[in-house]
Amino acid sequence: MKIVMLGAPGAGKGTQAKKIAEKYGIPHISTGDIFRANIKGGTELGKKAKAYMDEGKLVPDDVTIGMLLDRISEADCAGGYVLDGFPRTIPQAESLTEALRKRGEKLDYAIDVNVPDASIVTRMAGRRACLACGATYHIVYNAPKTEGVCDSCGEKLVLRDDDKPETVQKRLTVYHDQTQPLFQYYEQAGILKTVDGTQDLNQVFSDIVAILGA
Ligand code: AP5
Ligand code: MG
Ligand code: ZN
Repeated sequence: MKIVMLGAPGAGKGTQAKKIAEKYGIPHISTGDIFRANIKGGTELGKKAKAYMDEGKLVPDDVTIGMLLDRISEADCAGGYVLDGFPRTIPQAESLTEALRKRGEKLDYAIDVNVPDASIVTRMAGRRACLACGATYHIVYNAPKTEGVCDSCGEKLVLRDDDKPETVQKRLTVYHDQTQPLFQYYEQAGILKTVDGTQDLNQVFSDIVAILGA
């Protein structure tokens, strides 16, 4: 099963993608997590990405597309995957479609986790992230068992550099300008499904399972 998660910054793509990955036994691939791991590791890719991310801008397609296509060529992706944060431009979506077409494959679902902008800024302020394993928490809606510590791997949780309210606002603008056209793209491909992302996160997941099949 090959799934793409769509939705605004903070809609809950990462939260749901992790649950999908666990239930269906497929890898969760987040381009944002890959960039953050590279920043943490001080790599050249990380240095390049950080400047864009801190400003709420997209990392250029020429960097992002190759990185993602390499990742989905790895052995653990043979049985499918859930992509989180990719594609987020039309050229990214087209490159993915084309790369899959060459292998005689295609995406099964594009799931839009729908949350209005007004709810996003509050959510982000309460988010805590694990830069080691990509897990995401919320101080009220999805608190870790021990404050400030990742349940999955025990690392320290942090507030992401791009979760400042001004930067969140910029990310929302970029999302509406550059990522929203993907809805029409996947609607035309006949694979777009929308879930109400303002519900409790377990209810959002039930709605997704109803789409994917139990
Ligand atoms: P990325 O890491 O993808 O960030 P994003 O799209 O802005 O999305 P977020 O990770 O902020 O939100 P999310 O939807 O995953 O929400 P979450 O589950 O955490 O990208 C970061 C940057 O990297 C980009 O700005 C760009 O610069 C660069 N980048 C990445 N991919 C790129 C690409 N393809 N091309 C170019 N550049 C790229 O949930 C949010 C919070 O809400 C959490 O605290 C969570 O616990 C809570 N929550 C979740 N669900 C619920 C619920 N139902 N009710 C209440 N709270 C909830
Ligand atoms: Mg995320
Ligand atoms: Zn962790």
